[in-house]
Amino acid sequence: MAENSIDSLLQEHRRFPPSEQFAAQSVASPNLSSEARADRLEFWATQARECLDWHSPFTEVLDWSNAPFARWFADGTLNVAYNCLDRHVLAGRGDRVAFHWEGEPGDSRTITYAELTTEVKRAANALASLGIGQGDRVAIYMPVVPEAVVAMLAVARLGAVHSVVFGGFSAESLRSRIEDAQAKLVITADGGWRKGKVFPLKPVVDAALESGAESVEHVLVVRRGENPVAWADARDLWWHDTVGSASPEHEAEGFEAENPLFILYTSGTTGKPKGILHTSGGYLTQAAFTHRNVFDLHPESDVYWCTADVGWITGHSYVVYGPLANGATQVLYEGTPDSPHPGRWWELIEKYRVSIFYTAPTAIRSFMKLGREIPDGFDLSSIRVLGSVGEPINPEAWIWYHDVIGAGTAPIVDTWWQTETGAIMIAALPGQTTLKPGSAQVPIPGVTIDILGEDGTRVDPPHGGLLVVSEPWPSMLRGIWGDPERFKETYWSRFSTPEKARYFAGDGAHVDEDGDIWLLGRVDDVMNISGHRLSTTEIESALVSHPMVAEAAVVGAADEQTGQAVVAFVILRAEFAGDMTPDEASAALRAHVATAIGAIARPRQVFVVAELPKTRSGKIMRRLLQDVAEGRAIGDTTTLADTSVMQIITTNVTG
Ligand code: PRX
Repeated sequence: MAENSIDSLLQEHRRFPPSEQFAAQSVASPNLSSEARADRLEFWATQARECLDWHSPFTEVLDWSNAPFARWFADGTLNVAYNCLDRHVLAGRGDRVAFHWEGEPGDSRTITYAELTTEVKRAANALASLGIGQGDRVAIYMPVVPEAVVAMLAVARLGAVHSVVFGGFSAESLRSRIEDAQAKLVITADGGWRKGKVFPLKPVVDAALESGAESVEHVLVVRRGENPVAWADARDLWWHDTVGSASPEHEAEGFEAENPLFILYTSGTTGKPKGILHTSGGYLTQAAFTHRNVFDLHPESDVYWCTADVGWITGHSYVVYGPLANGATQVLYEGTPDSPHPGRWWELIEKYRVSIFYTAPTAIRSFMKLGREIPDGFDLSSIRVLGSVGEPINPEAWIWYHDVIGAGTAPIVDTWWQTETGAIMIAALPGQTTLKPGSAQVPIPGVTIDILGEDGTRVDPPHGGLLVVSEPWPSMLRGIWGDPERFKETYWSRFSTPEKARYFAGDGAHVDEDGDIWLLGRVDDVMNISGHRLSTTEIESALVSHPMVAEAAVVGAADEQTGQAVVAFVILRAEFAGDMTPDEASAALRAHVATAIGAIARPRQVFVVAELPKTRSGKIMRRLLQDVAEGRAIGDTTTLADTSVMQIITTNVTG
């Protein structure tokens, strides 16, 4: 664990107490924490009743008798889409804007709750006519267009299960996810806009289906990019034909609270991504509760914008489910922050008077680098709350965000959570918490976090330890799709005792004297690149799948811009070693990883080396490679089988 980073974080003494005006009107109140402390389960039951409408009420809050397999609110029934749509319309809020959608080329659409509800009803009827019903899996591979949200909600409305695959993933990644979930239907678009160009999606789906994924019966295609696409008549359908001609009448049925809602694949420590399974009632409760309290949402007046793609968990919980359950008005933007100009995001904030803005530290750092003149050129006075997610926000970026985007007054909520936790777990409550730049601060009410040493005992400040969730929480993952053993082994084996199941998050953290939590990064072979999770093993597997590569080792090296960057070390097979220069081989292998997994996994550097550092038992010592990648003096090499190997590598890399 990086004790150095604890030292530097402990140097951060700036404090930002809430203003009186903000506190007077804040959604969160001190009662929340005291109520949760008094009776955690009763607290969550109250939130489930207050945040959601139930088709039939639950009588049991939590069944933890079969830990770590939790059941929350299990005898209640609800419809997730009804909670996000119909109930707002029935309460007379149908004219409220659900989305101000902005396409990258500048086209835009405003969609009210009434319109969104009708569209989801049509889509649900269309999906049902394609044979989709409760429990069926539907893969969604889309750009950020309103139809992506409609598709997710239509699947949810039928009690079916969506698996959204981020549009930047390769055909191979898409195929393996479709196969793992045995999806019957794929919903996609011809293409989407990104960096001033159309990127094709349907051709990637075609390629994925050519190489397998035989469970798929139909492909439903939204027209967006207007790029030419190949067509399989018996399989492919246009969204505008199929959904456009479907009936706008559809009654939402109540499903059990534990009915699966979605699977979302995320990288773990092995080569195979894990299908994280979330269910309905508990997930929606915590997504809605945290969205309301952590972002101080006043749904009648706020305009909220979370910049995440719907392909990630942040897009699921804080673009689709939390905000829509709360009846929020949102901005939804298709493209990249700098297209067609570097002020595009600030222009959108000005245009829609965004009041709550939620993004990732990597984006903030890239804007910092461009200089404050760009955001200063726009009217950002509507902003009143700022959020951060995905990786620790360094104090410099925090202060810039606070001063330049938040006019020195908007509170920043740094939110720690994971695909697995489903919703925010650690965050300040605006109006309540005195903010500390760089700390994610306190567990939300109703969540119990401990920082433990390797031996499972609590560590005292200022020492670092491992972050553990000690009590079950409503939006917790219910398993890994099709792999209960891996679920138990990955998350529950390390710190559970026969009396108590504890969730191991994979993050290092330390807690200060005030009880505030400071995150120190992953402690396993998972990297965090621009707030996205990638596995070292998965990228190593992609590299060795290239005929030229004999062995590969990947590390996440510190990177000023992206937090971490992928750096690979490869040994070429002897028969290929003379075919290309190291630079050519490196370029070919970077491209190969992008094709195999997706552009987000493309290594920043690939070094061709003659040896890799291994222990006597043959384990690669990534720590030493990380020293090389970060340009540091090489650490302790005494456990290496061959201590001269680091000399050889350093010469390869620098020479
Ligand atoms: O290491 C933590 C980091 O991102 C991981 C979870 O990644 P993912 O499942 O892709 O979800 C990202 C969005 C919720 C965590 O294990 N992480 C996420 N948020 C923070 C963070 N690290 C520090 N501070 C955060 N606010």
